[in-house]
Amino acid sequence: MDLLIKNGNVVTPTDTFKADIGVEGGKIVAIGSDLPKKAKDVVDAKGKYVLPGGIDPHTHMEMPFMGTTTVDDFEYGTTAAAFGGITTILDFAIQPKDKTFLDTIKLWRGKADPKVVIDYGIHLAVTNLTEDLVKEIPKVLSAGVCSFKLFMPYRKEGLMSDDGRIYSMLEESRRLGFLVQLHAENNAVLEFLIERNVAAGRLSAEYHAKSRPNFVEGEAIHRGLVLAAATGGNLYIVHMSTKEGLAELALMKAMGANVYGETCPHYLTLTDEKYLSPKGRRYIMSPPLRSKDDNEALWCGLADGTLSTVATDHCTFTNAQKDMGKDNFTKVPNGVPGTETMIPVLYSQGVGQKRISINKMVEVTSYNPAKLFGLYPRKGTLNIGSDADIVIFDPKFEMELSVKNLHSKIDYSIYEGFKVKGMPTYTFVRGKPVVYDRKFVGKKGSGKFVPRTKHQPLE
Ligand code: URP
Ligand code: ZN
Ligand code: ZN
Repeated sequence: MDLLIKNGNVVTPTDTFKADIGVEGGKIVAIGSDLPKKAKDVVDAKGKYVLPGGIDPHTHMEMPFMGTTTVDDFEYGTTAAAFGGITTILDFAIQPKDKTFLDTIKLWRGKADPKVVIDYGIHLAVTNLTEDLVKEIPKVLSAGVCSFKLFMPYRKEGLMSDDGRIYSMLEESRRLGFLVQLHAENNAVLEFLIERNVAAGRLSAEYHAKSRPNFVEGEAIHRGLVLAAATGGNLYIVHMSTKEGLAELALMKAMGANVYGETCPHYLTLTDEKYLSPKGRRYIMSPPLRSKDDNEALWCGLADGTLSTVATDHCTFTNAQKDMGKDNFTKVPNGVPGTETMIPVLYSQGVGQKRISINKMVEVTSYNPAKLFGLYPRKGTLNIGSDADIVIFDPKFEMELSVKNLHSKIDYSIYEGFKVKGMPTYTFVRGKPVVYDRKFVGKKGSGKFVPRTKHQPLE
């Protein structure tokens, strides 16, 4: 045996039990009590949780956006992810307007393959949907890419898809079995509000949020859900931030549509008060931070299953990049870091505060993303035959989050000074250690592209 993890508390979405886990050839080969001690490496996990590796289904590494490029490349970004207990990321390949989907995948794999230290997959972020490209979709699915993001906003940035295109992709998703991911904000209204604020000289960071009030997301989510129900398509709303959107999703789920929602740690834990601080622009992302009521509603949505996943939307811009919009919020590149802090923040604020169980944490950070994005049962579970993507999590490990102890290339943390109790201490990808007792032991380029199968609906 290559690796034996002894005496840990193994966590699944439904159970927590004491067991040893044996690994050989990158796969889990044994789970049980008192497995024979002979292995090349034996790690004692007594008093620790043993979790299926986290899957972060929403990252933006080396992404050109709003006149600049995210600073975390695939090496920095996946190293940070590994320290946070993530063993697979799903990154958005942004379609250059003049490129086909297959060319876009090639472009993204060219950036990622030499650098990733954990496994990764690709979503196609559609910016220019033509009839020819719709015909290309079966080949894209065969290339292992089975999810497509469409943007309702960002018209001026050249990313927006209109409702007709969203409708047609939802029709195709039903026919071919892929998942449509939707960034839901009402573009016309937010553009109108931005223009009015800019004209009145209201240019500080708080006007980013004031230009995108809750209903801007709620209405767009409603519209997306109606289109999904009308077509019978498969819809996943990314980075949900509002109680209004959540209520729309709950209703459409109750009506039986195949629709899902994702939220992010920052929408669960931070509020729009951050925009009032002198460095408020660091917190500019879209949709923006909301109120305490929204935070709590989203926690409830996770606990009751309305929301299926937590993802990070890891999208890193340095202070200097954020300063592009020092005097005008419309020029601030949108996005915040998160892939290293997701699991510690969820554990401390969710499990630690009894908002969710540790089993729910595993469900929304590993099992559900694996199922929805066609990675299951290779990933997302600790089962015989699955990839040995395993995290040892120490519930007693205390840390004050700071740019000084995080591993992204970014030069600040949105959680500076935030105290967490509970940290991943070991991260194994296909049985190989990437983080070992909080030390990086991985290798650039050792991660693999994971071709995915079709989307599997959640029960
Ligand atoms: O502000 C955000 N969310 N930036 C990343 C791009 C996106 O819309 O996901
Ligand atoms: Zn988005
Ligand atoms: Zn995003």
